Amino acid sequence: MASKPSISFVRRAVPKKGNVVVFSAEQGEMSEAARSCDPSGALQRAFPIADFSGKFGASVELIAPDGAGLDRLVAIGAGKAASLKEHDWLKLGGAVAAHFRKPADVSVIVDLPGLEAGGSEAASLAAGILLRAYSFEKYKTKKEDGDGKPIDRKPARFTIHSSDPVAAKKAFAVADAVSDGVWLARDLVNEPANMLGPVEFAAQLKALEQLDVKVEILTEKDMKRLGMGALLGVAQGSVRPPRMAVLEWRGGKPRNQPVAFIGKGVVFDSGGISIKPAAGMEDMKGDMGGAAAVAGLMHALAARKARVNAVGIIGLVENMVDGNSQRPGDIVTSMSGQTVEVLNTDAEGRLVLADALWYCRQRFEPQFMINLATLTGAIMVALGQSHAGLFSNDDELAGRLAEAGLATQEKVWRMPLGAEYDKLIDSKNADMKNIGGRYGGAITAAQFLQRFVKDTPWAHLDIAGTAMGSPSSEINQSWGSGFGVRLLDRLVRDHYEA
Ligand code: BES
Ligand code: MN
Ligand code: ZN
Repeated sequence: MASKPSISFVRRAVPKKGNVVVFSAEQGEMSEAARSCDPSGALQRAFPIADFSGKFGASVELIAPDGAGLDRLVAIGAGKAASLKEHDWLKLGGAVAAHFRKPADVSVIVDLPGLEAGGSEAASLAAGILLRAYSFEKYKTKKEDGDGKPIDRKPARFTIHSSDPVAAKKAFAVADAVSDGVWLARDLVNEPANMLGPVEFAAQLKALEQLDVKVEILTEKDMKRLGMGALLGVAQGSVRPPRMAVLEWRGGKPRNQPVAFIGKGVVFDSGGISIKPAAGMEDMKGDMGGAAAVAGLMHALAARKARVNAVGIIGLVENMVDGNSQRPGDIVTSMSGQTVEVLNTDAEGRLVLADALWYCRQRFEPQFMINLATLTGAIMVALGQSHAGLFSNDDELAGRLAEAGLATQEKVWRMPLGAEYDKLIDSKNADMKNIGGRYGGAITAAQFLQRFVKDTPWAHLDIAGTAMGSPSSEINQSWGSGFGVRLLDRLVRDHYEA
C-alpha cells in the first residue's frame, strides 16, 4: 500500500513555489484565481497548441516559465462548470492525483469561472485525490528503478485553495474517514490468502476497537455451540479454522434498532471438492470482498462518528480441498434448523451467509440487513462489471440503494426474486439444495439467502463483478476496488442518521 498523501486547506492565494494545478472550463476559460497563477500566460498559450479545450478530464502540463518560482503548472479540464456534481469533483481529484505520483508540493486552485468553490467542492476534490492515490505496494521490495535511481514511495503533499477552507476542512473530516474505509477494504481484498486467513482477518478487525467499535470474534467452538452447520461445513476442509466477527458501532440513540451489514469472507475459494479450473483461480483470494466492504464501512462510520447504531457481521472461512472437505451430496443443518443438501461445494458463499444472516437477525433484530458477497459468476454474465446485482424484499430499501448508487457511482441494478425461482432450490433429500439449475444462477443464489432472512427488510448485493478486477477509473486503479464502502456510507448518511 502506498502511504496516504497529506492534504491541507487554505484560503485561496497565489502559490509562490512548488507545483500548481488549476481548472479550466470549456473553451479554456479559467477563473480569475486560476489566471493569477499564470501571470505570463504560458498556460493559456499552451491550450490551443496542446489541443486542450477544457473538456472534462483532459489536461495540459508545463514546466513553469522562468521567474515564476514554480515547478510545474497543470491545467485540468472541468467541462461545464455549472453542472458539476459531487462525484465529478471526486473524479477531478483523481485527475489531480494522477499527475503527482511522487513526493512534491502541490497547490490546487479549486475555483472555476462563475463558481467560487467552497467547502464541499474542495472536500470532494481532496477525497478524489486520496482514492486515486491508493496503490498496493506492500510486497514490492525493489529500492531502485531501471535506471538505478532510488524509488521514492513517499506521497505528495496537497494544499487545496478555496474560498472557505474552514468549511472544507470540516467536510473533509467526513470524506477522509470514508476514504480510509475504502483503503482498508482495498488492502484486505488485495492481500494474498497466505497472509490473510480467517484468524488474521479477525485480528485486523480487532484494530477497529481503536475507533470505539466493539469487536467480538466467535471461534469454531462458539459456532458449533450455535449450530452453524452451514458455515462450518464449508470451513471443514481447511487447516485454518473459521471465525465470525461481530462488530458494533453505537453512535445513535441507545434505543434505536441497529442497521446491519453482513459480509461474505471466503479468504480463498478453491471451490472445494467441486474444484475450480486452474486459470484465474488466484482471483479467489478476493472472495472476501463483501467482508472487506463491511470492515471498511464500519471503519468509516466509526471514524466519522456517524449518528447511527450499526452492526457488522462477517463470516470468515477458507474453502479448500482436503481429506476432510465436505462432499457433494452432504446434508448440513444450518443455525436456522433448515437443512441444506450441498450439491456443489463451490456454491459456498451462500452457506456462510445463511448462518451469518440468521445469527444477525436473531441477535440484533435490525431495522434492515444488507449483505455483500462476491457470490456468483452469473451476476457478471448478467450485468458485467459496472453494476452490482441488487436483490431485495423491500422496495423502499432497494430504491434508496439505487439512489445512493447513482450519487456515489457505485451503481447497483435490481434483479428479480420470486416463487418461480425459489422453487428451483427445493431438494429431494433436504429442505433445500445449494444450487439451482443452469439458468438464473445469480437469482437462485439470492433466493437461497432469502430463506434465512424471514420478514426482515433485506437487500443482497452480489459484488462478484465490482469488488475486484473491475475496470479502473479516475478514482480507482487498484484490483481490489473497495466497492460498497462509499455506497453504504451514503445510504446511512442520507436516511438512517438521527
Ligand atoms: N466466489 C464464487 C463467485 C465468483 C466468481 C466471484 C468469479 C468472483 C468472480 C462463488 O463461490 C462461486 O464459486 N459461485 C459459483 C456458483 C455455482 C457453483 C452455482 C459460480 O458462480 O460459478
Ligand atoms: Mn465458490
Ligand atoms: Zn466463493
